[in-house]
Amino acid sequence: LDNGVARTPPMGWNTWNTFGCNINETLIRQMADAIVSKGLRDLGYKYVVVDDCWFNPNRDAQGNLQGDPQRFPSGMKALGDYLHARGLLFGIYQGPLDQTCAQYFDSYPGSTGSLGHEYQDARQFAAWGVDYLKYDWCSPTGSISEQVARFAIMRDALAATGRPIVYSINSNSIHEKTGPQRNWSDVANLWRTTEDITNAWDTGQTNGYPMGIQNIVDVTVPLAGYAAPGGFNDPDMLEVGNGGMTDTEMRSHFALWAVLAAPLMMGNDVRSAGAGTLDILKNGNLIAINQDPLGRQAVQVSHDGTRRVLAKRLANGDVAVALFNEGSSTTTVSTSAAAIGKTGTSFTLRDSWTNATSTTTGSISASVPAHGTVVYRVSGGTTTDPSTPTTFRLRSESAG
Ligand code: GLA
Repeated sequence: LDNGVARTPPMGWNTWNTFGCNINETLIRQMADAIVSKGLRDLGYKYVVVDDCWFNPNRDAQGNLQGDPQRFPSGMKALGDYLHARGLLFGIYQGPLDQTCAQYFDSYPGSTGSLGHEYQDARQFAAWGVDYLKYDWCSPTGSISEQVARFAIMRDALAATGRPIVYSINSNSIHEKTGPQRNWSDVANLWRTTEDITNAWDTGQTNGYPMGIQNIVDVTVPLAGYAAPGGFNDPDMLEVGNGGMTDTEMRSHFALWAVLAAPLMMGNDVRSAGAGTLDILKNGNLIAINQDPLGRQAVQVSHDGTRRVLAKRLANGDVAVALFNEGSSTTTVSTSAAAIGKTGTSFTLRDSWTNATSTTTGSISASVPAHGTVVYRVSGGTTTDPSTPTTFRLRSESAG
């Protein structure tokens, strides 16, 4: 969406993965302070997004949304001011139908969705200083054309406020229909590609709740052509630091989100994040690859059994190549400079995790542990777009 924002994938933190509906202004202020004190803001993690359940279940007499008076007693504008004073940006959640997801699916009280209030709500958000709207379709029904129409009303309402606001949509329930069938970049800056993520490597499904890391990768890789500055596929918020996976899997999750040009929205409790978690979230090599101004999503170069190779062209002519081992034992994953679009006689490889550099005349390979991902930044020679197969198969389809 050409609205001046999200020229690279937004980075930040979101309340949902760890706290669900148990949120309040004290928690969010503490998280903001931790994001700053742990050096995360300065690496780009700027959007602090207050997900579902922040609101009073009743609109006021004029039909305006209000923060929950018990949990956000200072009001939403004060929270935005607190974030802005610390160099952070303010994100909020809402839905296009009558109910948010917590209201629709989890009996959270009220029917405060934006249906029929779109322009009023957009003006309210702008008045509170909101910089990012997560707009979440919560109903198992809704055709693509209905969704496009509803999501487009809020796009226009946000534009009418004159405030630059990142517009992040979730078409819920029907991602596998919308993702491959439609490029949402005329409607939003970010569009979810799957059902909700969980802190597990593989939940064995590509279209259901919840989704593991491997499953989300399977669905999101074929959508590479949709990503560009201003519009990115959204494979959901990070589970780094939330347990449920090995250290190798957590690193792989972050590395894959980086090359997929995914928004990097932390979903852990940053206040208690330990050295291991911060080491992943603060990997400057991977953040630079994710935030590259060319705005490309890695394309699939090869998928040989459980060995998957993805390549992301970068603005300075370098190419980031991800060597991903989907199997359950250590294996060598290989590709070549030619396969990732590089021509020349000598290339330098920088390992994103170790910073070690090596040179090659063309072969690119690494021994990769089970579920691991090695990412090299490849420089030297000249670059063209890597040739990529036009059809992809889901991993679940290759088994049988
Ligand atoms: C949906 C979204 C989640 C979260 C919840 C809140 O499930 O996909 O990311 O926003 O709603 O209820």
